[in-house]
Amino acid sequence: LAPYMVFGNPIKHSKSPMIHALFASQTNINHQYDKQLIPLDEFDDTIKNFFQTIGEGANVTVPFKEQAFKIADCLTDNAKMAGAVNTLIKLENGQILGDNTDGIGLLMDIRERGWLKLGNRLLLIGAGGAAKGAILPLLDEGFDITITNRTFEKAVHLVDQFGDYFARTDCNGRLRAARMPLLTNETKPFNIIINATSASIEGSVPTVPSTCFNEHTAIYDMFYGQEQTSFLAWFENKGCHNRADGLGMLVYQAAFAFERWHSVMPDAKAVLSAVRNTLS
Ligand code: ATR
Repeated sequence: LAPYMVFGNPIKHSKSPMIHALFASQTNINHQYDKQLIPLDEFDDTIKNFFQTIGEGANVTVPFKEQAFKIADCLTDNAKMAGAVNTLIKLENGQILGDNTDGIGLLMDIRERGWLKLGNRLLLIGAGGAAKGAILPLLDEGFDITITNRTFEKAVHLVDQFGDYFARTDCNGRLRAARMPLLTNETKPFNIIINATSASIEGSVPTVPSTCFNEHTAIYDMFYGQEQTSFLAWFENKGCHNRADGLGMLVYQAAFAFERWHSVMPDAKAVLSAVRNTLS
């Protein structure tokens, strides 16, 4: 084990060790980062043991983000609202702070792509862990979010949950749920559409009515792979030229984790192009 680790199951194909090695050499910070597979029923013990011995920080990936949320001693707002933790930080008093950098990673990628100037009407598809993690940073940026999901009740539940956040902050954003068929009543295309479902893993594409987009709509898939994802390919076919996969989100969430641990923000853009080259 190294002082910084990513834990998951599966973990073999994780790009995080490569990304963090690039951050370390770029910043000249001593940052030993490795990956470890954890059996499904051994997460709590492994993490406790890690932080009682060598551990300074950890990333947590599928399927342990909810468990990491439960074992953290304290949580950031991002983690609280996401109900999931991807970054654990050992504080000076020995407590373990749980954070979620997935959403700010996504937002950073959107910002770097110049998509903020497109407008703030955003369609978020999916209501699982990936969608939840993205909502708070997008709301804080002022996005007007419509959330839709195959199982509509889950989208409604998320809107209810974020009602509390609206009640106690002066957030500019807006969040509402819409059923997919009702989206055909949209009178204006969205500026950005984000796929936060796991449909791309099986190569399927959630239905998006043609009223929701035009050729200027920017299309983001949180999933990525060597080939263009099925979601992005579907929109290419519809003439949407502004498309991005989730590799940027992956690198930026890693950069924010690095920053939480070392108080230095690496140049994630340079690392992203290096990682992109290893995909092809
Ligand atoms: P994750 O942590 O990756 O978000 P999850 O919590 O299991 O995974 O959520 C998966 C999301 O993808 C859900 O929104 C799911 O829709 P349901 O709530 O209806 O299950 C969505 N999803 C998965 N496969 C899909 C498909 N083929 N078409 C549309 N949505 C799909």
